[in-house]
Amino acid sequence: MKLPIHLQPIHESDYPKLMKLWEAAGCIDVRQTDTPEALATFLHRNPTCNYAAYAGTRLIGALLAGHDGWRGHLYHMAVKPDYRERGIGSRLVNAAVSAIKREDVHKVHCLVKRDNLIAQQFWEACSFELREELFDYSLH
Ligand SMILES: CC(C)(COP(=O)(O)OP(=O)(O)OC[C@H]1O[C@@H](n2cnc3c(N)ncnc32)[C@H](O)[C@@H]1OP(=O)(O)O)[C@@H](O)C(=O)NCCC(=O)NCCS
Repeated sequence: MKLPIHLQPIHESDYPKLMKLWEAAGCIDVRQTDTPEALATFLHRNPTCNYAAYAGTRLIGALLAGHDGWRGHLYHMAVKPDYRERGIGSRLVNAAVSAIKREDVHKVHCLVKRDNLIAQQFWEACSFELREELFDYSLH
């Protein structure tokens, strides 16, 4: 019998499970700066928008989401490989985007690698629009 999937807020203590999820996902760049302290700071600043998906007690998907009062940003979208293509990713996006909108922020961005074609199809299916007129400039 397949367990029902439910979403719940991400907690600092989920860090080890999240790291396993991100490392197994294949297309997530886990950085040295993705520390337990950084996750705690992010969750503290964005207490309402971050969700994990569970099958029973097993964390099988997650999305980090936050905003600065101006724009929303989504990070590290991932679903465990054996749970993909069942609508879990889109449920996480809907939950995070709804939470951001409830806080009166209505524009939400996410970065997607050019070679991640599945992610591109996924974000388009979630009604995100490709901004071909933009470059992304980063300072490291
Ligand atoms: C991208 C990812 C999060 C999608 O999660 P998911 O739970 O499988 O997504 P959903 O089942 O909600 O799919 C929603 C829609 O996305 C599209 N989609 C999802 N997976 C797809 C695939 N393998 N091929 C083509 N389209 C796909 C479909 O349009 C799908 O709608 P449909 O089921 O009605 O056809 C998942 O594949 C993943 O974790 N990938 C590795 C990490 C990654 O690349 N993250 C994105 C970083 S930007």
